[in-house]
Amino acid sequence: MNTILLKNTPDDIKAAAKIIKDGGLVGMPTETVYGLAADALNGKAVAEIFKAKGRPMDNPLIVHIADFSDIQRFNLVSEIPNNAKILADRFWPGPLTIIMKKSAVIPDEVSAGLDTVAIRLPSHPAARELIRQSGTVLAAPSANLSGSPSPTSAAHVMKDMCGKINAVIDGGTSDVGVESTVITLASDIPRVLRPGGVTAEQLKEILGDVEIDSAVLNKLEDGQKAASPGMKYKHYAPKARVILLKCSDDEYINYVNKNSGKGVAALCCDEDIPLLNTQVFSLGRRNNYTAHAHRLFDELRKIDEHGDISVVYSRLPSVDGVGMAVYNRLIRAAGFEVIDLEKI
Ligand code: TXA
Ligand code: MG
Repeated sequence: MNTILLKNTPDDIKAAAKIIKDGGLVGMPTETVYGLAADALNGKAVAEIFKAKGRPMDNPLIVHIADFSDIQRFNLVSEIPNNAKILADRFWPGPLTIIMKKSAVIPDEVSAGLDTVAIRLPSHPAARELIRQSGTVLAAPSANLSGSPSPTSAAHVMKDMCGKINAVIDGGTSDVGVESTVITLASDIPRVLRPGGVTAEQLKEILGDVEIDSAVLNKLEDGQKAASPGMKYKHYAPKARVILLKCSDDEYINYVNKNSGKGVAALCCDEDIPLLNTQVFSLGRRNNYTAHAHRLFDELRKIDEHGDISVVYSRLPSVDGVGMAVYNRLIRAAGFEVIDLEKI
């Protein structure tokens, strides 16, 4: 299949909408990461997403809407909980996905057999325009090959998906850089299943009681069921082995310098660069967690592109604010390999 690179123009978005209406797949820019979009109400089209990504069929997809009223217009859920309206008012359009009880309209391919559906209203104008022009709602996982770092540019999508999908719309670099926060309202107490651009602190401020699912920061025990199926897979990983160090800033520098050598790199902060005697990939200034989120996947991809790196040392991130999303992605990229230098 020839994959066309489209621009963020009215004519090109119209062309992309035609592809969606015909049951095809389009790489769609959003403010979090690029999505791989198909008509969410067309089970056959959605099944093609799983094939293109190599995604396990038991991992459900997020349904993207252009306006809050789309939930009712397309009859997506059995009931809109009051908390969904409160969250939508505050955080939509934006990087928050809300899980609710689904209606019969949602194809099994989207919900992967669950009785719930995940819904998000993205803020990227090209995404909203594509949804509107398509006259439907769009199922879209991140547009990477399953297991790889998520794409934050059209070039990343092309790298993973060229020849497998119909088109990609180039809408520039994704602002947030990590995927949306996923919160379920289908449990008694609202629960964060995946941290993202909207922080746990912000959610607690609005809803009061909010739980953080144990799989957000910890490895699932063998046999433990994942509330969010996506959490059970090794994820976001570059080909190089990522090792996280739990330690002070000084200890980090010392450890990496002591272990430096051929094929060793540091995924670090700007302040570390002059102190390290190894290949460096920086996430930005030390306490700028927003920058770390924005750059994380691009840096992980650069590590792969370098071609010669086999081990990458990074610090265990802070879990404050957007830091929790960076922590969640990095610990999966590392396959939960953490060295606690305080215990050595
Ligand atoms: O920012 C984002 O959310 C991006 C952009 C494209 O919108 N999309 C994205 O989709 O990250 P994906 O498929 O890569 O991640 C969706 C996550 C998965 O971990 C999946 O298991 C979970 O959401 N999920 C989807 N529907 C669910 C449901 N009904 N119940 C529990 N988890 C669900
Ligand atoms: Mg993904």
